[in-house]
Amino acid sequence: MLTRPDVAVVGAGPVGLAIAWRCAARGLRVVVHDPAPGSGASHVAAGMLSPVAEAYFGEHELTALLADSAARWPAFAAELAEAAGVGFGHRTEGTLVVGLTGDDLAEARRLWSYQRGLGLPITPLRPSKLRDREPALAPRVRGGAVAAGDHQVDPRRLVAALRVAAERAGATLVPDAVARLSDLDAGVTVVAAGCGAAALTGLPVRPVKGQVLRLRAPGRGAPGFRHVIRGYADGESVYLVPRDTGEVVVGATVEERADTEVTAGAVLRLLRAAVDLVPELAEYDLVEASAGLRPGTPDNAPILGPLPGRPGVLAATGHHRHGIVLTPVTADLIAQLIVTGEADPLLAPFTPDRFVAEEERTWN
Ligand code: GLY
Repeated sequence: MLTRPDVAVVGAGPVGLAIAWRCAARGLRVVVHDPAPGSGASHVAAGMLSPVAEAYFGEHELTALLADSAARWPAFAAELAEAAGVGFGHRTEGTLVVGLTGDDLAEARRLWSYQRGLGLPITPLRPSKLRDREPALAPRVRGGAVAAGDHQVDPRRLVAALRVAAERAGATLVPDAVARLSDLDAGVTVVAAGCGAAALTGLPVRPVKGQVLRLRAPGRGAPGFRHVIRGYADGESVYLVPRDTGEVVVGATVEERADTEVTAGAVLRLLRAAVDLVPELAEYDLVEASAGLRPGTPDNAPILGPLPGRPGVLAATGHHRHGIVLTPVTADLIAQLIVTGEADPLLAPFTPDRFVAEEERTWN
């Protein structure tokens, strides 16, 4: 590259590529650095756009950001489809949250009542209505609810589409690994490197391992259910994400570990819970078992905005369980910050300074 870029993005996952697309579309010169685009957490992610079913006790600010980003998804998807000219499996059938046993249902109900208390749209269903929606559910599933606004997208196809859109808008991808931010020469550097952000910035981003399976419906047909199904099954939490391609993603473990080994015990627990909820899955092909590392943070919320004491460096990392749903809002807010210098008030609870002690804010 002959001219100094306006923006260097470290990391070509969905977040980094979407920021690059947004900035390049506004006329900035953008370079994205990644030796293996799309090989991080998004490679194993299921792609649930779940502002309601993933709203957990005590995470009010994160829940508001999830809802804001989910509301941006339809327009983001339409714009991306237009810009990239390829599909990425955006589906809007909604999500069923179900409990297998009475105890499982009691656990699910506690969360629904918390979610409903926040005004989130989740509606309990009679068992007969549940089965009308998804006859593939096991007869012994005790009950459930529908979160009609919780949708899905295929993260691997999303990364491919974002890459096309970013490159068509003029961004350049270079396949190099960035060891130090000081090696980059750009107007602004955006660290969107998932777990790799810790080594580059010192921010408290830690790997949270998730093991995930991919099944395929027999005869390459569509799976026998269309909603995303999130279930509690004998105390195990599992989600099942059906794709038009015949794939069903079954996930995921949540482990405080930094390796990406696949273990027999995790595969056993995920498959048992999946088949307990949807028995026909026992007949599907098991085509992939993989593990990835979510970028976790001390408060489970992303880290978005300027690094204190590091002029010209922005963080867009720590998306933990929510990288795919949070991609549109992250890209919009970070691009706005770069282009106009104005920080949207939505960013305030998520800026890096919440993790940087006063005495460290004068680095460099
Ligand atoms: N959001 C799903 C997961 O992290 O497993």
